[in-house]
Amino acid sequence: MKFFADTAEIDEIAELAALGMVDGVTTNPSLILKSGRDILEVTREIAGMIDGPVSAEVVATEAEAMLEEGRRLAAIAPNIAVKLPLTWDGLRACKALASEGTMVNVTLCFSANQALLAAKAGATFISPFIGRLDDINIDGMELIADIRTIYDNYGFETQILAASIRSVNHMKEAALIGADVATAPPSVIRRMAAHPLTDKGLAAFLADWEKTGQKIV
Ligand code: G3P
Repeated sequence: MKFFADTAEIDEIAELAALGMVDGVTTNPSLILKSGRDILEVTREIAGMIDGPVSAEVVATEAEAMLEEGRRLAAIAPNIAVKLPLTWDGLRACKALASEGTMVNVTLCFSANQALLAAKAGATFISPFIGRLDDINIDGMELIADIRTIYDNYGFETQILAASIRSVNHMKEAALIGADVATAPPSVIRRMAAHPLTDKGLAAFLADWEKTGQKIV
């Protein structure tokens, strides 16, 4: 499973990239607001830092205006994926941008039928929002599993990009189901390294080592 960093914070992306833990980046208008940066400027900077896809989201709601914004974003760098909302207009813009050879990430997906439409419209990525479904007591992981089954049934190449990831369990479950990508806040990716038994074991080893009186270097 590929890891995308769901952030527009340059420092966080750089730290993960140095460890080989980031295969792409996703942003959205809320993350751009949080960064305090200009969308075109920060997107260009991120796209120059990593080789993988960098999603940048349009804010227009009509297909023609989405296309205009999408082309502007796509012109920033060859690794830009234009993020479009899963509306009928978004699907129209998806079809047009995909046929121009632009990567498209169709976002705000909350149902398997929406994901089916996005695949037929030529989306490179579909972004089902797990956490926001969990928030309303619907199992977000069930949606990932349904999309996996449907895409595999028909050989769709659209990549399932599990989004709105809130916990390390979401990462594990997405990987078990076979999501192609998971996009997560860097804090969640870092937390995947944590285990209380690792901490306990390390403390015991260090205490015993201290008693040997030895040094390695
Ligand atoms: O990738 C979409 C993601 O940023 C949404 O996450 O936590 O705002 O639902 P969240």
